[in-house]
Amino acid sequence: MRIAFFGTKDYDRKWFTKMNEIFNHEIKYLRPRLSNETISLANGYDAVCTFVDTEVNRETLKYMKENNINLLLLRCAGFNNVDLNAAKEYDIKVLRVPAYSPYAVAEHAMSLAMAANRRIHKAYNKVRDNDYSLIGLDGVTLYGKTAGIIGTGKIGTCMAKICKGFGMNVILSDPYPNEAFANEIGAKYVSIEELLKESDLISLHCPLTKDNEDFINKETISLMKDGVILVNTSRGGLINTEDLIDGIKAEKFHAVALDVYKEEDGLVFDDLSNVILEHTTTARLLSFPNVILTSHQAFLTNEALSEIARVTLDNAKMFEEGKDLINEVK
Ligand code: NAI
Repeated sequence: MRIAFFGTKDYDRKWFTKMNEIFNHEIKYLRPRLSNETISLANGYDAVCTFVDTEVNRETLKYMKENNINLLLLRCAGFNNVDLNAAKEYDIKVLRVPAYSPYAVAEHAMSLAMAANRRIHKAYNKVRDNDYSLIGLDGVTLYGKTAGIIGTGKIGTCMAKICKGFGMNVILSDPYPNEAFANEIGAKYVSIEELLKESDLISLHCPLTKDNEDFINKETISLMKDGVILVNTSRGGLINTEDLIDGIKAEKFHAVALDVYKEEDGLVFDDLSNVILEHTTTARLLSFPNVILTSHQAFLTNEALSEIARVTLDNAKMFEEGKDLINEVK
């Protein structure tokens, strides 16, 4: 198939080019993100491919239909940024990569938790500056402490196992408990209130829905232990950032580690080092010594990128050959 890839970075080009040796599609890599202004770059192609940071709206989909581009390939799991009603109306198939490497995300969650806990971000800079003092670097030992995992799907279960490996007591919360898994690793499901009250480390691994937006807020933070470590590698909308900042200022948290946060749109995946930051909340978060932010990079391992490339290119092949589209978003 002839596929126009929008919003590509060097790592996309590397892994898609390598994987395409097997599939032999014709790929055009484009730096700009897909938008109503850039969609015309896909003229003459059979499909467009975009990432999680791109909104695909009705106007773009209409343009695709008018130009005989009947396939939208998402090289990500999330699809909330696509106008699916319009896609259906224009009979454009939307295919995604439902899962690539839950281990990659869970390993990043624990890396962030530990970096924030042991103040590795501060220590790194101090030592580079010939400052070998230990002031401000005190952490907590995780062994014997309680980890609360919210959402026990593909990623949450990996994180639960990692926490077990640290010798932690693991408690879980999910509207659809996986008791077999809990028994297997010696963890237990508890109510969300109990999890918030009992955990020394809380890690979010549930999707963002209408019902759980701002789930971490003034009330839920007040239930947490003083000195808790909070980790979010799931979706920024799960946390009310203003309430989080109030909690950090009130010294509620030993550490906060965020790979995702509400205000990340317009920031993530771009080098803005010469740009004046508009979001004051992001700047405020960055100002705290016990907070670490990364830029939605939990998925970014060679293994995950390779798998994303394989499934995306295979989705295109299935479409081309008229086969069952198992990864279709309806
Ligand atoms: P999954 O669908 O396998 O598991 C999600 C689990 O959360 C399910 O068991 C579900 O029952 C549970 N759940 C739903 N609502 C809940 C609630 N209110 N409280 C507790 N549990 C709830 O999803 P997976 O693959 O484990 O992904 C988890 C999240 O990780 C995704 O929704 C996505 O937002 C995020 N993610 C982040 C990435 C990153 O690079 N930072 C990369 C990939 C995913």
